[in-house]
Amino acid sequence: MLILLVPVLLLAAFAVYLLFIVQHFNPLRHISGPPVRSLFGNHLSAVLDPRRSPTVHKHFVEKYGRSVRIRGVGPWDDRLLTLDPVSLAYILKNSTHYEKPWQSRRLISSLIGLGMLSAEGQIHKRQRRIATPAFSVQNMRALIPLVYRKADQLTHRWRDMTEEKESTEWTTVDVCHWMSRATFDIIGLAGFDYNFNSIQDESNELFLAYKEMFDKVINNSTFWGTLASVYFPTLFNLIPNQRSRIIERCRAVIRREAGNMITEKKRKIAEGQQSGKAYQGKDILTQLLTSNASVDIPPEQRIGDEEMLHNINTFMFAGSDTTSLTVSWTLHLLAENPQMQERLRTELLSVSHSMLPLNFSELTEEETQSIYAEIAELPYLHNVVREALRLIPPLHSTLRVATQDDLIPISSPLRCKDGSIDPAKTLRISKGTFVHVSVEAFNLDQDVWGKDAWVFNPDRWDSLPEKVQEQPGLFANILSFSAGPRSCIGMRFALIEIKTFLFILLTNFVFQPGPTPIDKINVVLTRPYLAKQFSKGSQLPLRIKSVVRSG
Ligand code: HEM
Ligand SMILES: *[C@@H]1O[C@H](CO)[C@@H](O)[C@H](O)[C@H]1NC(C)=O
Ligand SMILES: *[C@@H]1O[C@H](CO)[C@@H](O)[C@H](O)[C@H]1NC(C)=O
Ligand SMILES: *[C@@H]1O[C@H](CO)[C@@H](O)[C@H](O)[C@H]1NC(C)=O
Ligand SMILES: *[C@@H]1O[C@H](CO)[C@@H](O)[C@H](O)[C@H]1NC(C)=O
Ligand SMILES: *[C@@H]1O[C@H](CO)[C@@H](O)[C@H](O)[C@H]1NC(C)=O
Repeated sequence: MLILLVPVLLLAAFAVYLLFIVQHFNPLRHISGPPVRSLFGNHLSAVLDPRRSPTVHKHFVEKYGRSVRIRGVGPWDDRLLTLDPVSLAYILKNSTHYEKPWQSRRLISSLIGLGMLSAEGQIHKRQRRIATPAFSVQNMRALIPLVYRKADQLTHRWRDMTEEKESTEWTTVDVCHWMSRATFDIIGLAGFDYNFNSIQDESNELFLAYKEMFDKVINNSTFWGTLASVYFPTLFNLIPNQRSRIIERCRAVIRREAGNMITEKKRKIAEGQQSGKAYQGKDILTQLLTSNASVDIPPEQRIGDEEMLHNINTFMFAGSDTTSLTVSWTLHLLAENPQMQERLRTELLSVSHSMLPLNFSELTEEETQSIYAEIAELPYLHNVVREALRLIPPLHSTLRVATQDDLIPISSPLRCKDGSIDPAKTLRISKGTFVHVSVEAFNLDQDVWGKDAWVFNPDRWDSLPEKVQEQPGLFANILSFSAGPRSCIGMRFALIEIKTFLFILLTNFVFQPGPTPIDKINVVLTRPYLAKQFSKGSQLPLRIKSVVRSG
C-alpha cells in the first residue's frame, strides 16, 4: 500500500509545484503582462496567430511596455515576450546563453535529424563552419543558371494552361502550390544535383517522401499530440499512430536515396582526383564534401556521413517553403496593388535582354549571369522584395531559452505589475525561461516604421525613418532572416530565387486576385488559406493572363 502511495504523493507534490509554486520564483513575476484567465489559460494563440498578432503586440506595448510577461503552455511557463530592439539584439547575438529550447529542437530533429537548424553548441558550430564556404557569394552565383531554367520551366507550364483559353480570359493557378514545386526542384538541384522534376510531375519517390513528411505531418498535428510526442517520444511511438508511421516510412526512403547521393558524389570527387581533372560539381553537397576535406579544418571539426545526411534534410526543409511562400505572398500583394505591379513590370522589362525571346535555355551561362547582375540592382524590385519580406515574414516567430540566470539590457522603461516603473536598465531572467522572439512584431512596429507600418508600401524604402537603423536583422533591418550566429545561412540564395522568379513571372504574366479573400495562417510558416476554409489546405489561387508585349 505504502509502495503505491509514495509515487502518487510525489507526483501530486510535483504537480502542485508546477501549477502553483514555480511561478513565484520566476523573476518575471514582477513585470507587467496580460492577465491569465484560467489555470491553463495562455497567450500562445494571441501572439502566434497572424490574424490577431499585430493588434495584440500593439496593445501589449501600449499597456505593458516593451518587455512583457506572457503565459506559455502552463503555469510553470511564464515567458518573456521582448519587443525591445536592444534586448532582442543582445539575445540573438549571444547564442550560447540563449539557445533554441530542447523541445523545439527535438521536434525538428524527429523529422529531419540533427542538422544545422536544430543542433546546438559544438555540433552546430562545426556544421556551420563546414557549410559557410558552401554558401559563399561565388558558389551562390554559380547556381543562378539553374534557378533560371526552373523559372523558365514553370513559365512554360503556365503558358500551356493560359494558351488553352482565349487571350482575353483569365486562368486561375494555385501560385503557392506551383511555387512550392519549383523551389523544391531548385533546392534538389542546388543542394545535391538531384532533379525531383516536380514542376513536370509529382511522382518522384523522394519528392513524395519529403512532401508527405513536411506537409501532412505538420498541417495535421494537434497541439497536445505534438506536445506529447516531444515530452514522451518513446511512449508516444509505442502507441501505434499514423504520425509516427508516416515519419518512419518517409525517413527510410530519404535515408536510402540521400545516402546513395552522398556515396555517388564521393565517387565522382575521388574519380576527379585520380584523373587530375577536379570534379566541377556546383551543388552544396559537393561544396560541403570539399569543405570537409579542406586542410584548414582540424580533424575533430569534420563531419561524418550521418551529419551530412541530416544537413541535406535541413536544407530541403529550411530552403524550400520559406522561399516559395515569399514569392507567393509577393505576387499576392502585387495582385492586390495593380499599379505597383505595372510599375515593377515596366522596370523589369527595361532590362536589356528581356526583349529577347524569353527562352532561357538558349542563353549562355555568361548571358544569364549578366542578366541577373542587372536584375539584382533594380531599385524598385529591391524595394518590393524588402517590403514583402517585412510585411509577411515566412517565419512568424521563434523561441529561445536562457541557459543561465542573466541580466538583459533594455532600452525602454520596465513596467512593473503594480503599475510602477522600475528604474533598472536591465531585466532579470532565470535559467530555463523561454524568450518569445516575434519576427513579425519587429517588422510591423509602428513606432519604428511609421503609422503605415501595416500597409504594403515599397516606396517607404526610399526614405526610411531614422529609428529603423537601430533594428537588428541580418537583412535590411528586418528580422525575417533573423540575426546573429543562428541567422539564415541561405539568405543570399533565397534572394536570387525570389528576384529571378519575380523577374520571369512578371514579365510573362499579369496577376489578379482570386475571388475569395485570403487568410494568413501560421502552420510552422505563415501560409495562405482561403478565408474561413482551413480544412481545404494551404493555397493561393490567383488569376493570370499572358503579358502582351509590343515590338
Ligand atoms: C525567403 C526565404 C528564407 C527565409 C525567410 C528564411 C528565414 C530563416 C530564419 C528566420 C532562420 C532562423 C530560424 C530560427 O532562429 O528559428 C533561418 C535559419 C536557417 N535557414 Fe533560412 N530562410 C530562407 C531561405 C533559406 C534557404 C534557401 C536555405 C538553404 C538553402 C536556408 C537555410 C537555413 C538554415 C540551414 C538555417 C539554420 C541556420 C543555423 O541555425 O545556423 N534558408 N532561416
Ligand atoms: C553572453 O552573455 C554572457 C553573460 O552576460 C557573457 O558572459 C558572454 O561573454 C556573452 N557572449 C557573447 C558572445 O556575447
Ligand atoms: C489527418 O487528418 C485526417 C482527416 O482529418 C485524418 O483522417 C488523419 O488521421 C490525420 N492524420 C494524422 C497523421 O493525424
Ligand atoms: C569528413 O572528413 C573526415 C576526415 O577526413 C572523414 O572521416 C569523413 O568521412 C568526412 N565526411 C564525409 C561526409 O565524407
Ligand atoms: C528553348 O530552347 C531550347 C534550346 O534551343 C529548345 O530545345 C526548347 O525547345 C526551347 N523551348 C521552347 C518552349 O521554345
Ligand atoms: C494538409 O495538406 C494537404 C495537402 O496539401 C491538404 O489536402 C489538407 O487539406 C491539409 N489539411 C489541413 C488541415 O490544412
